[in-house]
Amino acid sequence: MKQVLIKGGHVIDPQNNIDSNLDILISGSYIKEISPNIKVDNAKVVDATGLTIIPGLCDMHAHLREPGYEYKEDIASGTAAAAMGGFCTVACMPNTNPVNDSPAVTHSITALCEESALVNVLPIGAITMGLEGRMLTEMGMMKDAGCVAFSDDGKPLTNANMMSLALEYVKNFDSLIISHCEEPTLIGDMNEGAISTKLGFKGIPNSSESIMVARDVLLAEEYDAKVHIAHISTKQSVNILREAKKRGVKVTCETCPHYIVGTDEMVIGYDTNTKVNPPLRSEEDRKAIITGLADGTIDVIATDHAPHHLDDKRVEYAIAANGISGFESAFALCYTALVKAGHITLDKLIELMSYIPLNILKQNDHGVKSETFANLTIIDLEKQFTIDPSSFVSKGKNNPFGGTEVYGEVRGTIVNGEIKMWDKQVNA
Ligand code: DOR
Ligand code: ZN
Repeated sequence: MKQVLIKGGHVIDPQNNIDSNLDILISGSYIKEISPNIKVDNAKVVDATGLTIIPGLCDMHAHLREPGYEYKEDIASGTAAAAMGGFCTVACMPNTNPVNDSPAVTHSITALCEESALVNVLPIGAITMGLEGRMLTEMGMMKDAGCVAFSDDGKPLTNANMMSLALEYVKNFDSLIISHCEEPTLIGDMNEGAISTKLGFKGIPNSSESIMVARDVLLAEEYDAKVHIAHISTKQSVNILREAKKRGVKVTCETCPHYIVGTDEMVIGYDTNTKVNPPLRSEEDRKAIITGLADGTIDVIATDHAPHHLDDKRVEYAIAANGISGFESAFALCYTALVKAGHITLDKLIELMSYIPLNILKQNDHGVKSETFANLTIIDLEKQFTIDPSSFVSKGKNNPFGGTEVYGEVRGTIVNGEIKMWDKQVNA
């Protein structure tokens, strides 16, 4: 059995009460031993002196674009970018071409992943055929084919009856609906506010998102069903979710690094890389998102990795594609803005970016403990660097945080016992 010995690192895993200098011995796909000064012959030794080893990160909201949009990203490039960002597991949204709305498409995605994925990929199936909001997909059969959740992400499911049917349907086999919350008549080019007025753009009000968050919370409550709200960006959404959780509604939610770090002020230079849906909001919203993370209202940080081709972005702001290529800047942005800034602990960040998303997606075998799949992220927490999207391995260089100084460089990604990234080198 192939063995890997990670020596001299500082291991942190809040769920297993680990916070000390320990070696980790991996045998095949599993962690075999965690203790000080492990000595074995014939193991590949990884020197992790000065580095921190945490449970492998999981991104429950990403767009890998294959099949159909390989000019933006494909499974090989997307999962290489995930490995660069320290993600051992990513869930991929169904807005591909064809849409992942049948077991056949799900099977083709899992087959493509077996050939070319560097990290664990969990497909998310569509709720409605073609994401058109008219006819439900065969979610039960798609679950059997490998879908871990269902979402029409990229498009809101505006028919409330269809949403309630979907919530009840997946309840039968304990799966999950992930809702992209956007009221279809309240749309525009950027966040609505003083800056949209000044720039002459049509604004997207906060209520575009929060009306639908309220609707889905109420539906989940009425039908005693589970729902996960994708990429929340507004103060009102945080407030609605906080109250819903107090009432015991089975709702979880995520936000993204760009809503933690960015605001609509970034749009002033007309950089189309700031265009994302939901849009970058006000400073007040950004602060409310951080409060929601700190007080447990927001369960997960997901990247909404949405790579686009330069041609989709090098156009007027109003017609540019929405999305940020997020895998390769996510950890450092969050570590810097949340942990370094003193809003949350590193333990909490590990929960937000590893434990909780894995639990929500029912990937239960995780954490730094023996007999568990060796999914580990290795980080130089003190390393300061400047984000440079042109160096991304993702095909999508569309990220508005180029030039931002951050802490916390991902140095290694181990997926099921295999070193998939080390020192910025990806091993296919
Ligand atoms: O900005 C976004 N980009 N938001 C979405 O909901 C979809 C995504 C995409 O697929 O590009
Ligand atoms: Zn979305």
